[in-house]
Amino acid sequence: MNENSKINFYGYDLNITKDVLIPRPETEQAVDAILNLVGVSYLPGVKPSKPQIAKNITILDVGTGSGCIAIALSKKLPEAKIYASDISENALKVAQKNAKTLGVHPTFIISYLLENVNFTPDLIVANLPYVDPEWDWIDKNALAKEPAIALYADDHGLKLIKELISDAAKQIVPYLVLEADPCQHKKIIAFAKDYDLYETRGFILTLRHKVTAKVAND
Ligand SMILES: C[S@@+](CC[C@H](N)C(=O)[O-])C[C@H]1O[C@@H](n2cnc3c(N)ncnc32)[C@H](O)[C@@H]1O
Repeated sequence: MNENSKINFYGYDLNITKDVLIPRPETEQAVDAILNLVGVSYLPGVKPSKPQIAKNITILDVGTGSGCIAIALSKKLPEAKIYASDISENALKVAQKNAKTLGVHPTFIISYLLENVNFTPDLIVANLPYVDPEWDWIDKNALAKEPAIALYADDHGLKLIKELISDAAKQIVPYLVLEADPCQHKKIIAFAKDYDLYETRGFILTLRHKVTAKVAND
């Protein structure tokens, strides 16, 4: 991929460089899942769901890459406070530039997972690296154009997702919207003992903290 390639994500044109993952169509469903949670219609002609959480929530996009999720959410949920983090300084530069071009202002944080995050968001959305290099269906040559740090994780692809769930559980982050390959979903749900499964759509799992679920059901 050349510098300055354009990719459309959720209707917004993003500049993509060698420093970031090329946003995938399946990730757009993370935005759908969040709009659904706050009771905003995400499909023309489909009624919004009953809101589970207020529109002025604080959202943190962990592993923002090109900024695609944080930017789409900033556009669709102007009342929300959006933060976006990444371990890669170069990725954050790309995300910042995309946000500026599209006229939105998420707050960017350089951080290993939640290490430098000094607040508790209402919702974390994360498309972290989850590819297991041992999967025989992946085309490693095609993926070589993207940064390895954006793709691969140890522990059968689950290392970072598990770490994030543990960190978020300690802070009682109410909602986690996580992307993973569907073949990993069962393991993630089993690992996330402090969370109930709220919804699955495509590659996206929405988990709700048991404390939040109790409050919502009382
Ligand atoms: C799969 S890419 C997703 C990028 C973008 N959110 C998207 O959906 O296209 C994963 C991103 O997580 C970042 N990342 C990898 N390890 C991380 C860590 N330990 N903490 C924070 N971000 C990390 C990578 O730099 C990369 O930008």
